[in-house]
Amino acid sequence: MSQNILEIKNLSKFFGGLAAVSNCSLNVKKGSITGIIGPNGSGKTTLFNLIAGNLKSSSGTVVFDAEDITDIPSYELFSKGLLRTFQIAHEFSNLTVLENLMVVPGNQSGEKLMKVLFKSKQVVEEEILIESKAREVIEFLNLTHLSNELAGNLSGGQKKLLELGRTMMVDAKLVLLDEVGAGVNRTLLKDLGIAIKKLNKEKGYTFCMIEHDMDFISSLCDPVIVMAEGSVLFEGSADNVKQNEKVIECYLGRGSKMQDIK
Ligand SMILES: Nc1ncnc2c1ncn2[C@@H]1O[C@H](COP(=O)(O)OP(=O)(O)O)[C@@H](O)[C@H]1O
Ligand SMILES: [Mg+2]
Repeated sequence: MSQNILEIKNLSKFFGGLAAVSNCSLNVKKGSITGIIGPNGSGKTTLFNLIAGNLKSSSGTVVFDAEDITDIPSYELFSKGLLRTFQIAHEFSNLTVLENLMVVPGNQSGEKLMKVLFKSKQVVEEEILIESKAREVIEFLNLTHLSNELAGNLSGGQKKLLELGRTMMVDAKLVLLDEVGAGVNRTLLKDLGIAIKKLNKEKGYTFCMIEHDMDFISSLCDPVIVMAEGSVLFEGSADNVKQNEKVIECYLGRGSKMQDIK
């Protein structure tokens, strides 16, 4: 059995003449919190869109949990345990925090019309289960005081926590986080980091996360993959990354001194 939960080989995506992802190959180890960094426009989000079935690739393969999932649509990947969050949170602003979590799980009996009209015992029991699961997730994320608040009224950071919470409503194996820490204040960023670590340790989630904040990355991720111009420039520990000449040059230009990459 492979130690990699994700294996990407020679993946490319062209937009017209532009290769947003270009012959990119990388692996994500099962159980890791793998970081992805890279300058703006280096193809990070496009890579996630390809993995998560939000975009069709031009060439190459994506293997998830020993299964070729290249170009499989996102809803199918969702039920296989591959989830992603978006750079911009996708909450339902007119639903409460609790309701936002309760609408996540698929295949609910209540979604079938006849069963909605004649609410069966099965539907009621499922709803009770889903609600108690949602309350568990809310507690895990320290959002209990906001259970009944409309999601639209949450701060940016709280929305990111809710986004992470949505991945906890199903049995996720691999979660792709696209800049989940961006625009989040220091206190909430700490909460996010704690939640990610806890999910990794206690629930066995593997994470692959795009981030810009090197402190946040250093505290969570190993290894860190650096992307440039659509493919992998370097891979190593956060410390290796900060000291690597190629990486420094890529961010700051030739002849620059070693500095925090932010
Ligand atoms: N839907 C699209 N159509 C055309 N070009 C795109 C599209 N999405 C991304 N790009 C281009 O692909 C490149 C990589 O973008 P992106 O994956 O968003 O980079 P990153 O997330 O690393 O900032 C950029 O040059 C961007 O303008
Ligand atoms: Mg991006």
